[in-house]
Amino acid sequence: MTLSGHVVITGGASGIGEATAIALLDEGVAVTVLDADRTAVARMEDRFEGEDIAAFACDVTDEDEVDERLSEAAAAFGPLSGLVNCAGIARDMPAEKTPVETFRQILDVNLTGSFILCQAALEHMGDRLSIVNMSSVSGLRANAGRVAYGASKAGVAMMSQVLATEWGGHGVRVNVIAPGPVDSPMVKRLHTSEDRKIWTARTPMRRYGNVGEVTNAILFLLSDEASYINGHVLAVDGGFSPAGIMPDP
Ligand SMILES: NC(=O)c1ccc[n+]([C@@H]2O[C@H](COP(=O)([O-])OP(=O)(O)OC[C@H]3O[C@@H](n4cnc5c(N)ncnc54)[C@H](O)[C@@H]3O)[C@@H](O)[C@H]2O)c1
Repeated sequence: MTLSGHVVITGGASGIGEATAIALLDEGVAVTVLDADRTAVARMEDRFEGEDIAAFACDVTDEDEVDERLSEAAAAFGPLSGLVNCAGIARDMPAEKTPVETFRQILDVNLTGSFILCQAALEHMGDRLSIVNMSSVSGLRANAGRVAYGASKAGVAMMSQVLATEWGGHGVRVNVIAPGPVDSPMVKRLHTSEDRKIWTARTPMRRYGNVGEVTNAILFLLSDEASYINGHVLAVDGGFSPAGIMPDP
């Protein structure tokens, strides 16, 4: 794959974002990680000292902080060639028990935070910019327990397609990954053993994905090989989203 330049990854200190940061570094791409988890950011700084990777504590819902961090990042590594919005939070609870405050918070981080980063990346882009936003199969299908998370992720997909439409003529591609169940720290926290049984039974490939399988798709969408792909939602889900009636396991 042909990858170059400088890519910013939000939520890059854990799970899919961290795996993407490491894979890009291996491809010779400069990486800036923005993450709200200060301890994980400090761990990344130690681990990658002296390499072309900078990690900053940053809350994606704070547009002033995001702008400052991207200015610093562009000064260090040059204008942005890519942005990967992985920062996200999830809760699993019945709609009637979901506090409005929780609903607002999930939309704020997952949807508004991604929007803030897309706007800021446009300001700091070089000749070309490839944006990859993280939706979910819960943004494509109505999964019980996901009223806020699902709404936020459906919003991410539509927001991205509007941006792809508006910015496609200006050297910007905006695409979306919709992962199915992927073994990451988030899912290890969220899914009980009963949840795991349900998700595995509903996934035609009968297993969870691993973070590397999502990272491969993100790198492809960032790369020059995806140069005419814009406004696409790519499910990386072992067949979860298209599946109907399935054979017995
Ligand atoms: N793992 C899955 O099965 C799965 C499935 C579908 C979609 N996704 C999406 O993929 C993305 C990555 O998920 P993951 O599984 O790697 O989760 P993760 O919890 O391992 O990583 C998410 C990161 O986002 C950071 N973050 C949270 N709120 C933030 C904020 N306000 N500002 C900056 N950073 C913040 C966290 O500190 C964490 O490091 C998320 O958007 C998630 O919704 C994951």
